[in-house]
Amino acid sequence: MIDPRAVLAKFRARFDSAAAVYRAPGRVNLIGEHTDYNGGFVLPAAIGFSCWVAIAPRDDRKLVVYSENFDETHEVSLDALSPRTPKRWVDYPAGVAWALEQAGFRLRGANLYIVGEVPLGAGLSSSAAIDVATGYALLATSRYPIDRTRLALLCQRAENEFVGARTGIMDQFVSCHGRAGHALLLDCRSLDFRVLPLPPEMKLIICNTMVRHELGASEYNTRRSECEEAVRRLGEVLPGIRALRDVTLSQLQQHRQRLSDVLFKRSRHVITENDRVCKTADALGQGYAPSLGPLLAESHRSLREDYQVSCGELDTMVEIASRQPGVYGARMTGGGFGGCTINLVRAADALEFQRRVSAEYAAATGRKPDIYICEASEGAEAAVVPAQDVPSVSL
Ligand code: GLA
Repeated sequence: MIDPRAVLAKFRARFDSAAAVYRAPGRVNLIGEHTDYNGGFVLPAAIGFSCWVAIAPRDDRKLVVYSENFDETHEVSLDALSPRTPKRWVDYPAGVAWALEQAGFRLRGANLYIVGEVPLGAGLSSSAAIDVATGYALLATSRYPIDRTRLALLCQRAENEFVGARTGIMDQFVSCHGRAGHALLLDCRSLDFRVLPLPPEMKLIICNTMVRHELGASEYNTRRSECEEAVRRLGEVLPGIRALRDVTLSQLQQHRQRLSDVLFKRSRHVITENDRVCKTADALGQGYAPSLGPLLAESHRSLREDYQVSCGELDTMVEIASRQPGVYGARMTGGGFGGCTINLVRAADALEFQRRVSAEYAAATGRKPDIYICEASEGAEAAVVPAQDVPSVSL
């Protein structure tokens, strides 16, 4: 984990002033994939990799943003923000500033030093981490209290409307609301959530296939449109449904002829995945890790065959992991087409798991994987702030 005092020192060296430092984490999803934008359930946890933002106000309405990861500085004017065809890293912080201003927050100009430790393009939500860390920092610097749910929604709006990725709410929400040692059971329609303690004898292990999920963005938007199309067609016979969340498996089977094969499979994934999230939450509630395995395995199979967002490397990683000693369950996590798997592993077996999976995956694919043994961590927070600047925070 990055030391916030080091971020502060680097800010001072670059901008020659004092600063406050804020942090927001990436996430891993235990189960509930591609359900969030279908009004369904997800079960993510914040992880120990964060994006860090050191910030100090300016007297004008400019944001001067330096990224350590890209070693670049960009200047944006708060008075000239508008969604464009982006794809530069600065569009993420700029998009958040835009969404906050659109919502009526009048922001102060600021100098920002940003450094991210969430691996990029690995499906661990480095983008939600930079969005939320920037949003938190801008609000606090402009002396607004932080409403975590509102911040998550505005960061999602920035992604959807400024950056052009039609993501759901899961990543931003857990980056805001994560709790150390817990996963979050989130109802993505009502935004009600419960924190569920993770069994202490169970480790979250993230295996990075080292395949970047570049294909992901366009395929992601396609999947979303397919789900919307399925709801439109099913809505002709099931009036009142708003999302696949509202459809049962037997209704889907009954009206199968209204859907193409592809739309049927997409819908079946979402409907059965919602059910698996609830069962996983029940099992965790009873502190019973062994029953998680079949649920995670079935989730992976459904993502591979029905939703078709896996890839050869993800399948290989899951297959290797599933036969190691001490593994409760394994599956791909995040949007898919590369990125990472999540593995629930008995703590005593974690190091051996890391060693064996690393060797077997490298032998099978020729790629050397990164394997992280993680703790579920706290959501966004002020890491270093001058005493008079502590922002008030509401849930
Ligand atoms: C990405 C999106 C999330 C969610 C997942 C798939 O991470 O940002 O909103 O849809 O994919 O579950």
